[in-house]
Amino acid sequence: MLQSTELKALFPQAGDIPAEFRLPGEIHQDSVLVNGQLLAWTGERQSVISPIHLRDGEGRLQPVKLGSIPVGGIAEADAALAAAVGAYDNGRGAWPTMRVADRIACMLDFIRQMVARRGEIVRLIMWEIAKSLPDAEKEFDRTVDYMRATVDAVRNLDNENSRFQIVEGTIGQIRRTPLGVVLCMGPYNYPLNETFATLIPALIMGNTLVFKPPRFGVLLFEPLMEAFRSAFPPGVVNFVYGKGAEIVPHLLESGKVNALTLIGSSKVADHLKKLHPKTNRLRAILGLDAKNAAIVLADADLELAVKECLAGALSFNGQRCTALKMLIVHRSIVDRFLERFTEELAKLKIGMPWDKGVSITPLPDRAKTDYMKACVEDAVAKGAKVINAGGGDEVETLFRPAVVYPVAEGMKLYREEQFGPIVPVMPFDDIETALDYVITSEHGQQVSIFSSSADDIGTLVDPLVNQVCRVNINCQCQRGPDVFPFTGRKDSAEGTLSVTDALRSFSIRSMIAAKQTEPSKKLLDEITRSHKSKFIHTDFIF
Ligand code: G3H
Repeated sequence: MLQSTELKALFPQAGDIPAEFRLPGEIHQDSVLVNGQLLAWTGERQSVISPIHLRDGEGRLQPVKLGSIPVGGIAEADAALAAAVGAYDNGRGAWPTMRVADRIACMLDFIRQMVARRGEIVRLIMWEIAKSLPDAEKEFDRTVDYMRATVDAVRNLDNENSRFQIVEGTIGQIRRTPLGVVLCMGPYNYPLNETFATLIPALIMGNTLVFKPPRFGVLLFEPLMEAFRSAFPPGVVNFVYGKGAEIVPHLLESGKVNALTLIGSSKVADHLKKLHPKTNRLRAILGLDAKNAAIVLADADLELAVKECLAGALSFNGQRCTALKMLIVHRSIVDRFLERFTEELAKLKIGMPWDKGVSITPLPDRAKTDYMKACVEDAVAKGAKVINAGGGDEVETLFRPAVVYPVAEGMKLYREEQFGPIVPVMPFDDIETALDYVITSEHGQQVSIFSSSADDIGTLVDPLVNQVCRVNINCQCQRGPDVFPFTGRKDSAEGTLSVTDALRSFSIRSMIAAKQTEPSKKLLDEITRSHKSKFIHTDFIF
């Protein structure tokens, strides 16, 4: 079994890193995109440190410096906001009034430039957040697919609206229009994909943006700077760097942000929303905390449940908002379940993102490992055990997954979203106990249920769909396919994301209406025929 010394040996020496995954040198983000210009940054800088450590000849571990980013403050945040406000220009700017076909052309240009930088971005995802090579590639490719699907969806949406409706003597044309300035913040676990799942729809619907990159996974936007600059009109995309706790409240207090999109904690979102001087003018599209449970019934296909729960709990070290963060297993099968679960877990390879077949990789920083440790110690102090050999071993950012059993009310792991490689398990005798866990939770994203009985599944689904927003039957929780609605109840989300839902979330319907009279008909006919308006038209985008 791997002990700490063996974990330590999993960090590479400099010469062990395959050539294709080495970084050519440090990357210094030395300009900031504001108002269409890449402004040279001469102010304070912050080092970007990889979770991957290098082992020296004496076996000492040293973190790897990847480069540096600007540390902006209030003045820089104000400049970014002013640029976004200016580009929106009360809805009169080039971008919000641009024909949808032209916005699509800008987006396609951006996608083309982004695809050309795939290799660099994938490598940076690996170094900045230690995501495995296949997962980093998947993140990139899934994002590009999402962007292309968004373009198709916008085209279809606009085409559907390229017509007039006549109802009760009123002629109307209804289209979706932008909201204004969007403040966009993504998470570290999917720094590209989750960020772009809100940023791209916000953009293509005609909004202008202030974008603050996540705490980890920030340098990977560097290869995209020029694409952002050249593909969109000045001021449409503006970057801010610096302490979120200082900058973000300031931006919201200005009252100039029309939509807040954040994938992060519900506490932070709740606090931020209240800072807007006119909260009813702020739309929030939020992906927040989750503590998705798997309920494994006595008649479940055990092998299937083990396989899905393992992937659900530990893909990308459990750092997915959709991860299974509590396994609730019927007492009659819990011993067998744990035996098979820990056997399979022991086969998961721990290592570096480029290691073939690797599953468990370093966590983003030391604080995260410490938090994992604290969660396990708390549970053990209150009567639970780590039941897999070596579980909870740690060295710097590497943490060997821990299966903790039995987890009970009062332990951190019972309610806290661990967001890492710990698998809390609790037994149940009566299904009401499992249902009660979901009902009394502050979270309401998804749940997985495992059973082969149509009766049991049928009976469980009915109450659960009113507690969460996706019930997964005999499979793990997950977001995809991206055309399905992704949302949550309670403290788990606000608004719905999917390729089509996101377009609605970042826009509002606006319409023209005229009496069905001869002069109105003539007027509308002339406007459409001679293309006098970018809103009133019947053009089709192919
Ligand atoms: O972190 C939350 C992600 O949206 C989860 O996506 O279920 O596809 O891993 P996923």
